[in-house]
Amino acid sequence: MEPVHIDILTVVPGLLEGPFGDSIVKRAADKGLVSIRVHNIRDWSLDKHKRTDDVPFGGTAGMVMTIQPIHDAIRALQAEREYAEIIYLTPDGERLAQPRVNQLSIAGNLILLCGHYKGIDQRIRDHLITLELSIGDYVLSGGELAAAVLTDAIVRLIPGAIGDEMSALSDSFQDGLLAPPVYTRPASYAGWEVPEVLRSGDHAKIEAWSHDQALQRTQARRPDLFDGENGMA
Ligand code: 6GU
Repeated sequence: MEPVHIDILTVVPGLLEGPFGDSIVKRAADKGLVSIRVHNIRDWSLDKHKRTDDVPFGGTAGMVMTIQPIHDAIRALQAEREYAEIIYLTPDGERLAQPRVNQLSIAGNLILLCGHYKGIDQRIRDHLITLELSIGDYVLSGGELAAAVLTDAIVRLIPGAIGDEMSALSDSFQDGLLAPPVYTRPASYAGWEVPEVLRSGDHAKIEAWSHDQALQRTQARRPDLFDGENGMA
């Protein structure tokens, strides 16, 4: 099967060298499940100094990323293949939560555009971008780390990316609950004991206990997950 293509557009490609070189994302790429490419927007700039930003109209502070290199980069990628979404990572986008990640993991090829400076020319957002996402209510220097977070969250859901097929479904948030506590050997360490029920071998009892622990943990730590106002539906 043809891999899912995730193409990331940035002016600081170096920021994205680390996150995909190891772990689950690398394993998925090595298996041919996904192809992640990082592109330097500057490579498409027709400016004689290869500039990708300019002063804003209206005279506010900061620089704004220009249309031309981003437009040409997106058109060049679209000439090679179809994309399901062209996503702009921005703090004023839709706040990312698991249901959106699930949807994107089966959507098809994706372009991720990372903004910098004061932002990108609004016309890019109006005419080229199909989805705007934020990874939380705080401000990062650019969209790159957000793109890395989004890519990791998506790639680990692609079938075959993680060894145990069950484990992605039992993640915190997948059933609207936080995950229950887990334990491994030894059963007793310095007087700290593993709960007896987990050692009982009674799978129905273990399942019931784990579900109850997940409920208790969610009620204590994230009661907002019960109120249906968090995109977890
Ligand atoms: Cl997607 N970009 C930036 N610059 N800051 C963020 C963000 C994105 N999500 C949360 N903060």
